[in-house]
Amino acid sequence: MRLIAPSVLSADFGHLAEELEMINRSEADWLHVDVMDGTFVPNISFGFPLMKPFKQYCTKPLDVHLMIVHPEKYVERFCDAGAWSVGFHLEAVDDPMPILELIKAKGVRTCLTINPDIDVKRLVPYLDKVDMVLLMSVFAGFGGQSFIPETMAKIRFMREEIDRRGLQTLIEVDGGVNTKNAHSIFEAGADVLVAGSAVFCAKDPENTIRVMKS
Ligand code: DX5
Ligand code: ZN
Repeated sequence: MRLIAPSVLSADFGHLAEELEMINRSEADWLHVDVMDGTFVPNISFGFPLMKPFKQYCTKPLDVHLMIVHPEKYVERFCDAGAWSVGFHLEAVDDPMPILELIKAKGVRTCLTINPDIDVKRLVPYLDKVDMVLLMSVFAGFGGQSFIPETMAKIRFMREEIDRRGLQTLIEVDGGVNTKNAHSIFEAGADVLVAGSAVFCAKDPENTIRVMKS
């Protein structure tokens, strides 16, 4: 699968409706929604109030990426706010299983994610328990960082593991993705690429999305 999920974090929030209409017109598959709490990551983005306009103006599924401590307190509210998938960080919790169950009970797709300094093998026991794993290719917290090349080996490892076990689990990659590296990240085995600044700061965002997918 080759999907593109532009991250609304890099959108112009003064023209949010137009930005979302551009996403609707484009070949983007999902809208990636980066929620930051200022504690799990050293940055604060947005929370529930913006889920409403995202849901109202965006026709694409909302792929919610929680960069927060205590995701167990909030995952159900994000499901109720219209998330199509909800992901949280493995390293933010003691046991992800009960939290995955909360999301599943809402009928929403689950995602587990790890920062670049977390051993990718820690995701292996959960590969058959989630719909998607998200490999961060930058440290969570900010848009506009450079892709960490070591991520490529992690993507290949995950691809092999998922295929060997005959699983359908999707691999999403997030951070520093652009028109130059998208092809090789897909080739390494990624299914979904998140791109924030590369899309929203581009002169022609719709074409940028098209180029990334092709
Ligand atoms: C980083 C976020 C990313 C970010 C990607 O903490 O999880 O989704 O918005 O932005 P770019 O594509 O600019 O690296
Ligand atoms: Zn993200």
